[in-house]
Amino acid sequence: MQSILVTGGLGYIGSITITELYKAIGKYYKIIILDNLSNSNIQVLDTITSIIGEKLDLYIVDIQNQTELKEVFKKYKETNPINYIIHFAALKAVGESVENPIKYYQNNVVGTLNLLNCAEEYKCQNFLFSSSATVYAPGEFVDEEAPFKPSNPYGETKVVIEYLIRSLSKKGGRYLCLRYFNPVGATKDGKLGEMPNKPNNLFPYIEQVAIGNLQQLYVFGNDYNTHDGTGIRDYIHILDLAEAHVVALQELIKRDEKKENYYDYFNIGTGKGFSVLDIVNEYSKLVPIKYQITDKRAGDVAILVANPNKTKEKLGWVAKRGLTEMCQDSYNFIKSKQ
Ligand code: NAD
Ligand code: UD1
Repeated sequence: MQSILVTGGLGYIGSITITELYKAIGKYYKIIILDNLSNSNIQVLDTITSIIGEKLDLYIVDIQNQTELKEVFKKYKETNPINYIIHFAALKAVGESVENPIKYYQNNVVGTLNLLNCAEEYKCQNFLFSSSATVYAPGEFVDEEAPFKPSNPYGETKVVIEYLIRSLSKKGGRYLCLRYFNPVGATKDGKLGEMPNKPNNLFPYIEQVAIGNLQQLYVFGNDYNTHDGTGIRDYIHILDLAEAHVVALQELIKRDEKKENYYDYFNIGTGKGFSVLDIVNEYSKLVPIKYQITDKRAGDVAILVANPNKTKEKLGWVAKRGLTEMCQDSYNFIKSKQ
């Protein structure tokens, strides 16, 4: 049996993707988790175990530590060689990346270099990378050929890694970059979701208001050129995003079996934009969300929405879940954590 290494597998997107991946192909592949716990905790492994009914191998390793990383590849070389990598591990706080760009380049870029180095040494040539919509300039219905224009060091690290992957792919192998828009929500059972220490993003903040831990939401600006003046984003249900990974990995598997070289990059979004007030109104159907308009947040843009057509045409993936479900699952999750 071959292995799939999932870096950052205890994080928000990684943990939920693992449960979906296990359901889809866990019978045929061994799933190995690697995480340094810098933005997650070990209890997530127990939650994954309770959902899938099997305890997966976990390595508490930092991808910046090449020696320890190689040990993991070496350990499975004879029995369950690592033939696929899903690379989620990264730091992702935009503000912190502005304060400390070196930390972000070190963790995200150097860490990925180490990982790709190990992959090369151990002849693992199938790589699925978590990129982001933040690689683009703002816009409506942005397609994959839009130029890179990151506005902060976090986004720059994603662009640098995408360039590295493109260069590497010319030597052969199979590489996919998935550019996520705004993942939100949680699993249906409320067991896995996002629980940041300090909520910066919209949904985690609304969740805290919903359960009374915070008094009100501060809406960052209402004079953008949008239907109600507040910022518009392409929110995608986390389960749709997890399913996109299953589809993308299956594409890599198919190409690997045929020994075809492959490199591509896809938007993972719904193609539909919602404003901050659209979200507040939808969420308020479940529980009233008090809000106050305040100044714009530095670095924010009016609108960023995906054109998801290429992903539909080439991968056959489309998001199935709408805003109502995103809000319901988000609220269900945060209530269950009280
Ligand atoms: P997360 O912080 O919940 O998960 C990332 C995981 O990686 C964490 O468990 C963390 O401990 C681990 N990690 C970080 N640095 C590491 C290192 N050096 N070595 C080993 N493990 C390390 O974040 P997430 O929301 O699940 O994001 C997953 C990926 O998706 C990231 O690459 C992120 O940049 C990308 N992404 C996220 C979003 C989003 O809105 N959540 C949007 C676009 C792209
Ligand atoms: C942010 C990051 C982006 C990253 C994404 C996911 C910035 C500038 N961008 O995107 O790079 O990929 O998170 O981690 O930080 N809002 C409020 N009040 C709040 C929080 C948010 O009004 O308390 C508004 C924002 O102004 C924006 C929308 O809600 O219009 C979404 O914000 P957020 O969830 O932080 O995501 P992005 O800004 O799209």
